[in-house]
Amino acid sequence: MTNSQTGTRVVTVGLGERAYDIHIGPGVAGNIGDLILQKFGPRKLVVITDKNVDEHHGKALMTALADKGLSARNIVLPPGEATKSFASIEQVVSNILDGGIERDDLLVAFGGGVIGDLAGFAAAITLRGIDFVQIPTSLLAQVDSSVGGKTGINAAHGKNLVGAFHQPGLVLADTNILKTLPKRELRAGYAEIVKYGLIGDAEFFTWLEANGAALLAGDDAARVHAVYMACQAKADFVARDEREHGVRALLNLGHTFGHALEAIAGFDGRLIHGEAVSIGMVLAAELSVELEFCNNNLPVRIKAHLESVGLPTQISDVDCEIPGVDILTGHMMHDKKVRDGKLVFIMLRDIGDAFVTSDIDRHKLLDFMTAKCSRT
Ligand code: GLY
Repeated sequence: MTNSQTGTRVVTVGLGERAYDIHIGPGVAGNIGDLILQKFGPRKLVVITDKNVDEHHGKALMTALADKGLSARNIVLPPGEATKSFASIEQVVSNILDGGIERDDLLVAFGGGVIGDLAGFAAAITLRGIDFVQIPTSLLAQVDSSVGGKTGINAAHGKNLVGAFHQPGLVLADTNILKTLPKRELRAGYAEIVKYGLIGDAEFFTWLEANGAALLAGDDAARVHAVYMACQAKADFVARDEREHGVRALLNLGHTFGHALEAIAGFDGRLIHGEAVSIGMVLAAELSVELEFCNNNLPVRIKAHLESVGLPTQISDVDCEIPGVDILTGHMMHDKKVRDGKLVFIMLRDIGDAFVTSDIDRHKLLDFMTAKCSRT
């Protein structure tokens, strides 16, 4: 793990006395010791990671901490969505308590979205809340889940239904770490980057159409720029609406459809989160056409871009039996975004022009979903 010398960019999440910086760039994780000392002073650390990340990067991280005199122990968990469970959180918190923990100790979430959400939740509930640092190792976690303080686990009823808002004190998005990420994971994270263009930045979407392939092929400058743009956009939404009473909901574009598809695919790796979001964003654009918020050029353009980078864009791309539309909409009704029994949708008027509505005719939605499912 080398220290970053150049090319680092910093985004600040402006939350008053809980404000924190996201450091983005090649090698920034190598600066962890200094950054922790600057922000928190000397602390005892517990690093929570998964087996894959530990194998590739664990030793380098522990060395970077030890070099600055920071004492750390680590907890290594199995990779995969199944780890975001009640059983795992119990195991992790027990392990933290067994090791002896004090209020001033610091947790470090070193992994993708699963580890970030789980470790963040452990930080939120252990001793009623301790500080934590996010070192997101997947593109998806760098551009979305490590920023903004949503932490939690899945329940039998659906994804992310148990958790807490608990902001990290520091985020280090090291773009060098993305080099060991499987291509499929990289593409899935890319879907969340596209989301930022669609919800609020048409120019960025056009930039992605021109540069997305290079970014995925390994272009460092394109990666740093895209992670920076995504984090800056997310920081703005979070600073304006930390608890998602308003604009933050736009970040859920495609997620109600996506979460339902993930539930159907069974969280076993057949459909990973970013892929589900990719399909969900196309469905959101198609439903926007159906409800006459925009014309058909919009989903066509979005689909073309997502397909060009190898992302799935329709329900039939999911490698599983598609159940009846009632089961699919049943999963959608379990989403956190249901208000007064009504589904909340993010719809599009144009690229970069999204809005939130719960005023969607149930019959039109059912007809739309029936048509989408029957084409599979
Ligand atoms: N991933 C959506 C949010 O953080 O609000």
